[in-house]
Amino acid sequence: MNTQYFTFPYVLITLLLLPLASSKNSYNPKQIPAIYVFGDSLVDSGNNNYLPLNSNAKFLPYGIDFGGKPTGRYTNGKTVVDYLAIHLGLPFAPPYLGLSKNQRNKITTGINFASAGSGILPETNNKTLTLDKQIKLFRRVIKNNLPYIFNEQDELKRHLSESLFIVSTGVNDNFHNGTFCGSSNFASYLLKEFSLRLQKIYSLGARKFFVINIPAAGCFPMIAAKSKPRGKCNMKINRAIFSYNNGLTNVLRKLQSQLIDFTFMHSDLYQFLLDLRETGYKYGIVETWKPCCPNDIYGDLKCYPYNVTCPNRNTHLFFDVHPSQIANQIYARRCFIDKTICKTWSFKIL
Ligand SMILES: *[C@@H]1O[C@H](CO)[C@@H](O)[C@H](O)[C@H]1NC(C)=O
Ligand SMILES: *[C@@H]1O[C@H](CO)[C@@H](O)[C@H](O)[C@H]1NC(C)=O
Ligand SMILES: *[C@@H]1O[C@H](CO)[C@@H](O)[C@H](O)[C@H]1NC(C)=O
Repeated sequence: MNTQYFTFPYVLITLLLLPLASSKNSYNPKQIPAIYVFGDSLVDSGNNNYLPLNSNAKFLPYGIDFGGKPTGRYTNGKTVVDYLAIHLGLPFAPPYLGLSKNQRNKITTGINFASAGSGILPETNNKTLTLDKQIKLFRRVIKNNLPYIFNEQDELKRHLSESLFIVSTGVNDNFHNGTFCGSSNFASYLLKEFSLRLQKIYSLGARKFFVINIPAAGCFPMIAAKSKPRGKCNMKINRAIFSYNNGLTNVLRKLQSQLIDFTFMHSDLYQFLLDLRETGYKYGIVETWKPCCPNDIYGDLKCYPYNVTCPNRNTHLFFDVHPSQIANQIYARRCFIDKTICKTWSFKIL
């Protein structure tokens, strides 16, 4: 009978959601008052909807499991940052570009500046909000909006120092027009540039960082589709990314030793995705490289408006070229509950 097939997802959802939901109460909301999000499509919650770009995620089936509405998130449901917000008992951080001036003057729980396609370098997909532009917008919020809420300089300073700054970027810098261009030399250069931008965010008042490393792009659908045999990860790409990720922890530890009160949590998305290819079946993920949208591995592998998705979106690691909600949900569990992929060297948030 099909009974097991149908009950499995419910058991899973209960297992995954309950600890996250109940953990809300065990946190003093004052501990982390807000999340400010910087980065690319992995964490964009809709900024690109407001930019004149050829591609966005403003149409179904994106968001099909997010109340059935596209929001600009590049997945079928919640992103890893949405799960982080749930874990901290905070609302989802709205996209900066979608907020009116009045809304910007009132929001105390954080804002999302992330923009799909963006990178660390200003020349990477420069029609998106590059990291520099995201930092500029954050500076604007500090100067123009937050003073409406925190009218004493000390209060504002405290708010920023207690807030969590999530940064998830770097993968797009490694691709030029769809072609991988990473190398260990490039990784060193990129890390230097990234460090400068983290210092910039720090200089604006941030103290607690949650940094997500670069995912194993060699396993992304459009790359795995070209591997031999099909579906295998491209190890050359993964090795170059590994070299960056390896340096990233050193950069973060160095910043911590140099900057007063700089603290960070490091999240190993790279290893998580590799592991999920092997162990995903335990959670019902049976398809580890083909996208769910389009439900087809020929052509450009792009998810177009109203494409029909795979029949069960919880069986696919990738929704389009981005992780599916189920992958993000398992990530959240491994990060916040099992604590296997998120590590801190100092402050305890999780
Ligand atoms: C953006 O990138 C394009 C192509 O790389 C380049 O021609 C252009 O000058 C850049 N624009 C800015 C404002 O940096
Ligand atoms: C990017 O790739 C497309 C398709 O492969 C090609 O037509 C275009 O000329 C390329 N652009 C650049 C700047 O290399
Ligand atoms: C997705 O939509 C595009 C554009 O409408 C269409 O050309 C393509 O065949 C669709 N793919 C699938 C697998 O349905």
